[in-house]
Formats: sequence, C-alpha cells, structure tokens
Amino acid sequence: MRAQTNTERQETKNSRKRKDLATEKGKRRKFSEKKAESKPKLRSDKTRDPERTRSMNDQISQHANRKELAEAKKLLQQAVDEDLANTHTYSIAINAYVRCGDAIGASKVMKQMISAGFAPCVVAYTTLINGKCKAGDVLGALDVLRAMLSRKPPVLPNIRTINTLLRGCLLVGASSEADSLFERMQGEWSLEPDLSTYEYIISLRCQGLLLGEATKLFRMLQKKTKKDSEEASSSYLAQAVNSPIVNIALARSAALLKDWAKWKLYGKATRNAIQHMEKEIGERNEGDDEDEDEGAGHRKIEGGKQGWRVRDKSRQHAASIFEKHKCEEIRRELKSIEEFVTSVKALEEDDSNTLSNGPLKAYSDFLLRLITFRDHDNEYTKWIRENQKNGSPEAMKTDEKTETKKVEKTETKKVEKTETKKVEKTETKNVDKTETKNVGDPQKIVVKQITSGLRKSFGLDQVLKQDIIAAKGASDPEEAKEKLIEKFFPKFLGDYTTKIRKMLSPKGFLVFRELFGNTLPVKLEICSGAGEWAIAQAKADQDAANWMALELRIDRVHQIFTRMIFHDVQNLAVLGGDATQILPCLISESSVNQIFVNHPEPPQQTGGEDSEGQHLLTVDFFRDMYRILAHDGTITVVTDNLWYAKLLGRILGKVSEGSKAAFTSIKMQNKNIRQNSCIDGFVIHEGSPGPECGHSIKASSYFDRLWQKGINRHATAHDRYFLYIKKNVKKAG
Ligand SMILES: C[S@@+](CC[C@H](N)C(=O)[O-])C[C@H]1O[C@@H](n2cnc3c(N)ncnc32)[C@H](O)[C@@H]1O
Repeated sequence: MRAQTNTERQETKNSRKRKDLATEKGKRRKFSEKKAESKPKLRSDKTRDPERTRSMNDQISQHANRKELAEAKKLLQQAVDEDLANTHTYSIAINAYVRCGDAIGASKVMKQMISAGFAPCVVAYTTLINGKCKAGDVLGALDVLRAMLSRKPPVLPNIRTINTLLRGCLLVGASSEADSLFERMQGEWSLEPDLSTYEYIISLRCQGLLLGEATKLFRMLQKKTKKDSEEASSSYLAQAVNSPIVNIALARSAALLKDWAKWKLYGKATRNAIQHMEKEIGERNEGDDEDEDEGAGHRKIEGGKQGWRVRDKSRQHAASIFEKHKCEEIRRELKSIEEFVTSVKALEEDDSNTLSNGPLKAYSDFLLRLITFRDHDNEYTKWIRENQKNGSPEAMKTDEKTETKKVEKTETKKVEKTETKKVEKTETKNVDKTETKNVGDPQKIVVKQITSGLRKSFGLDQVLKQDIIAAKGASDPEEAKEKLIEKFFPKFLGDYTTKIRKMLSPKGFLVFRELFGNTLPVKLEICSGAGEWAIAQAKADQDAANWMALELRIDRVHQIFTRMIFHDVQNLAVLGGDATQILPCLISESSVNQIFVNHPEPPQQTGGEDSEGQHLLTVDFFRDMYRILAHDGTITVVTDNLWYAKLLGRILGKVSEGSKAAFTSIKMQNKNIRQNSCIDGFVIHEGSPGPECGHSIKASSYFDRLWQKGINRHATAHDRYFLYIKKNVKKAG
C-alpha cells in the first residue's frame, strides 16, 4: 500500500474533523428536536478556535462588569452561532443577566447551556441563585438548588451557594427556609458554616422574635469557642461570638420582648463586640500603613501581581471604612435601645402609671403599622393595574415602547413557566397562587398577604402567644401556659386579622384614617433603607402629618420597624415590599401629599450611558406616583449622581397626562440652592432640599453618612442633586 503524502494525511485529518463536527452538530440538532430523551453527551470546553473563544469570553465578561446586557447578549449569540461557545461563555453570560437584574433571562441562558450539552458548574448555578435571590425569588432560587442536586452526577453546593441562599432568605424574611438550609448544609453536604452563615441565621431568628432558638445557637458557639484552643480565636465560631451584627440582633430582640436579663447580657456583649471590631480594624490599618511605607500603597502599578496587590489594598481600605461605619451605626442603635429600655423600666416601676401606651404599647399594636406585601407572580398587581386603567378617569396613555416591553416580558415569563419543570413548591407558594387566582376579593387577598408576612417574618405568632399569657394566665405553670396558647391562639389570630381588615378598603387599599387614627396629610418616603431619615421627619411632624416608609428589603424593613418602636414614633407606618407592587395595590388614588425618594439606586453602578441595569424610577413608576399623589402633590428625588439626575429629567420628559406633561418642575427660592441644569424642562437643583420641599428637619441617612466617607464609586462626599416636581392636574371643564 502506498504511504500517504503529508498533504493527503492533512486532508484525511481535516475530513475526519469535519465529519466529527458534522456528527456533533447532527447530534445537537437531534437533541434539540427530540428534547433530549436520554442524557446528552457532555461537550468538551475545547472549541474549534480556543483563542477566539477566550477573546469572546473576555469581551462578554467586560460587558457584564459594565452592565451592558445588549452587547453581552449579542456576543453570546455570535459565539453560539459560530460554534465557539463553551461552559465559560454561558456562565459569564448568566452573570451579565444577573448583574443587570434579569433573573428570567439568566434562567433561559442556563437552559440553553444545558440543551447545548454543557454541564453548568457550581459557580454558574450559584450565580443564577444569586440572580433569583436579588429578585426576591427565594423559592425560585431553591428550585435551582434542587435542579443542581438532581443532575447526574449531582452538583453539590459550596459555602458560597448556601450563604447566597441565606442572604436571599434574609432579604425576604424567609426564616424557616433558612433554618432548613442551615441543617442540610451541615448534615447532607458536610459544609462548615462561616461567619456570614451565623450572622444570617441568628439575625433571621431574632427578626422572627425566636430569641430562645437564637440564644441556643449562640450559646453553642460560645461553648465551642471556649473549648477550642487559642488558635481558634480567629475561627468562624469566635468571629461569630464577637460579631457586632450577631450581638445587636440578640440585644434588639431581647429589648423588644422586654426580656431584661437577656438584654443586659447582650447589650453589654454588643458594646464589647464593637470595641473588639474597632480594635481589629485599627490593628489591620496600622499593618497596612507599614506596608505603604515600603511604597506599594502609593505607587500606581497597572496589572500583574503588584497591581493586584494595590487593587486589593484599595478594596481592603474600602472594607475598613465600611466596617468602621457599621460599628458607628450599631453604636447609634445600641444607644437608642438603651434609652428605650430606661424609659420602659421607669414606666414599669412607676406605680402611679396606668398607661399601656407610648413605649409600653404592646408589640402587637405596633405590628398593626407594619404592612408587608409581596405579589410573587405579579399576577395580582397586573390585574389591579388593568382595573385602574379601565376604571380610572385619569387612565394614562402608555407609550408604544413600554407597552411592547411589557408584552415581551410577559412572554418570557410564560416561556419560563412552561419550560420550568414544576418541582414541588412549598405551601406558601401554593397559598400565594390560589390568592392571585381568586382576584374577586382584593381586601381578602391583601389581608392574607399582610398576615402571612407578619407571621412568617416578624414573629406575630410569638407576640400573640405572649399576649395570650399576659391576658389569660401569666402566673400559670409552663404546661398550663402551653394549653392556654393552644386554646386561645386561633381566636387571638382571628381578632388580629379583623383589625388588619378594618384598615383596608373593599378594594384592598390602606385607609389612612384607620391606620393612623386621624386625617392629617400623608407623606411617603420610598426606598427608605434603614429608615432613620423617615423616623426623624415623622418625629418632627408629630401632630402635623403622618409618614410612611417604604422599603423592599425585609431586613431593612425590620430595622425601620424596630427603630419606630425604640423611638416611640406613633405617626409612622412601615410598608415592606416592592414599590412597583405596593403603590398600585395598596395606595388609593390622590391620597398622598408628598413623596420623597432619597438616594434611589441608579440603573448601574459601574456601567456607562448605555448600561442596562434595571432601576425603579422608570416612566411607569412615575405614573404610579402620579396616581397616588393628591392635587398639587410633590415629589422630591435626591441623588449624589449627576448623571442619574439628568437621566431622571429625561425620563420625566416622557411622562404625560393626556396631551400635557404629568409633572412640572418647581422653582427654588433658596439662595443656597443652585440650578445645575435643565433637562427636558426639568431642573436639576444642586444643594440639599430643605423645608420648602417638605423636609421638617435636617436629617441624614445611613447611605448619606456612608457615602460622605467616599465609599461609593459614584458618590461625591458633598454634592447633592435633586429634582423637585409637582403633579399637574387637568382643570375641570
Ligand atoms: C441606596 S439605598 C438608599 C436608602 C436610604 N434612602 C438612604 O438614603 O439611606 C436604596 C434603597 O432602595 C431600596 N429599593 C430598591 N428598589 C426598591 C423597590 N422596588 N421598592 C422599594 N425599595 C426599593 C433598596 O432596598 C435600598 O434600601
């Protein structure tokens, strides 16, 4: 037989390669056509042009960092079409969707990746879990966990996966889900909890007023640390025992439950923990200064290991500022709890005092001013919006662009719904589903939502049990108390639900007269964070106005609520949930006099003009605000990001009422306030808004104080920009 020439050999090789490629493509086509009846053969990460794959992956990654989703999507599609995508391509693309707040898009890419024959690793799954958690969809995130565990072989979670899930639980107040994860991580997956794990679990238990269970875990940590040798002082256990976050959670919960022995213990422990942390930060910084003397800190070195060290240093520096700030904030909170405890104790000891009001007011009474609402599938919100559009005389025209976007969104959601294998969902989800289907009685739906939120995340059951004992048998032995609770709980819960119902109109809207017990004007802060600003304003407005603080994150809602108790604020209600759902579903037309939004999150943190990160203050949301504002009602939006202020001007330019603009800019008469620019007729003011905008007192917030330390990339330490606008109302006739 004749030996092959080099050219022939090469040709045979190439033809074999082409055949392989064709077979591979054929296989994939078959796979997609037949929807993978059998397990697909996993594809290798080595593509036909590894260099180009790497370069495309780098580009997608850069777009992800800058939150340029459209670009990232385009590149992913190109990589798929040219058969250049590998596991990293898909994983990075999932990250791009997550960073831009599009969890549904991220799920779709994950499905596409699996259909293409790639096996997602734990990092890709954790990224998707993060996306779901950020969107407040913890149940969806738990579905992702189930999916990774059911792969063959299973993809096991790591500590990052679990902490991401636990953080998600904290954001929505899902304490039972968190407890179950905590158990499984140690048993099923042999993972050792770290500092964050303990902080999440203890915070959640305290938030639900499960102080007994929180202290049990804390004592176990203390015991273990004492038993361990000296080197254990830097272990996670020791860090958790000394964590100011853990200790303040225990102290706060003890003070709320008026458990004075535990308050004394954990109040003192919090003070020590703050000192301990401050000392540690100081020592770390001293170490850094010594390094800087060697020059590394001041030299500007790009790239390479040295560059990383410099970048790491600046990250460490930011982390130090952040930790110091956290200590200062916790010290502030501790001080207010101490004052609360002193006043309650004084009232308790005062025999002549017969009041059960003020700081002595029952926790369950305060809870009546904590309204949480979350429409998981957005179905109820959509239904309400439709009703408002059809039934309201001020039904506003939606421009074509947003309408199409909405349709696209709904379709994506539908696709996802049919594609997602419906794994058994928890009871809560089932309850929510039946509620949204039964849109016949909005009041009933909202009552259920509020009650279940209070029971799930804010310890309503614990509080009612305490109330039962106080009313029926404070001096009974423990066993008898249990029986009393069993007997009376349904009645106490029923009575409580009736009180909530009384605060709602038949359409499920809050009746402010019932909520506040008066008819004073209503002011609403949206995106309240930890709520100090709203609390300060409400206190200053006592007997002049009622306030509402609206916040998405349930851990922050809890902070606002407890502050309200510690400062004994009676003219404030806390609204927990997504403002895009709460405004249409809970707040009736023309009922709010002033709206304030301080430091809303801009659509991007690091992206440029074309960044596509989602944000709250869209055209649709300004329309929601328009609906609830009273005649001549105003909105003040404050930001330290000029680019964002200008973007808001452009957005406002698109919000119309019939043929007119829905809002007008209000001129400022204050010489300390400068006009920075005017965008589409909306003035960007420079300076801090004051009494002329409805601020009753000068007060700062957590983020204001943090950013004044220069921690945020966008934040300038002192510059503040704001828009101050008024609702335009169509004149009758
Ligand atoms: C940058 S922080 C500012 C907090 C506070 N105003 C301050 O100045 O300290 C923005 C807050 O808006 C909240 N937020 C974001 N989207 C929201 C939404 N859709 N509904 C309600 N709150 C939201 C975030 O959870 C966060 O606490």
